[in-house]
Amino acid sequence: MTMTHTLPMAPTEDKRWRIVEATMRRNGFEPSGLIETLHSVQQAMGYLDEPALRWVAASLRVPLSKLYGVATFYHHFTLKPQGRHTCVVCLGTACYIKGSKQLLEQVEKKLGIHDGQTTADGEMSLLVARCIGACGLAPAAVVDGQVQGKSAATMLLERLDNVMARKV
Ligand code: FES
Repeated sequence: MTMTHTLPMAPTEDKRWRIVEATMRRNGFEPSGLIETLHSVQQAMGYLDEPALRWVAASLRVPLSKLYGVATFYHHFTLKPQGRHTCVVCLGTACYIKGSKQLLEQVEKKLGIHDGQTTADGEMSLLVARCIGACGLAPAAVVDGQVQGKSAATMLLERLDNVMARKV
C-alpha cells in the first residue's frame, strides 16, 4: 500500500540530502530501512551529525535515541568529528577515476592526519565520502558543507588554508 508521506524538511538545502531521501523512499519510509539510510547519509556526507540523525528519525518515525544507538554500535558509522572545519573528499567511482585518491593523499599530507581524524589544534577534520551526488564535477570535495567540483589539489589546499585562516 502506498501512502503519501510528508517528509520533514531536510537539515539544509544541500542537494546531497536528496540521495538520502531516495534511499528512504526506496524503503517505503519504513524503520526497517534505517541502517541503509544511515549508510546513505555517511556515503553522501562523510559522517553522521545531529541534524541528519534528527531528520532521519523524524522521517522514519524512529526515536532519536535508537539512531544514536545504531550509529554508535556499528563501527562503520562515523559521528561528526570535532574539528572546527571539515573537509570531505569523495572517493566514489567517478571521483576515483579522476584522481581523488591522489587528492586525498595531498590533503592528508598537508594536514598530517588521515580519514576520520582531526588536526591536533582542532581546526580541521578530514573524512571521505562514497559519492556526494556531484559526479559530473569529479573529483569533488566538500569543505564546510560547500561542494568544490573539479578539485585540483592546489585549489583544494588553498581553500583549506583560507578556511582555517578565517577566524569566525
Ligand atoms: S563519485 Fe564523487 S560525486 Fe559521485
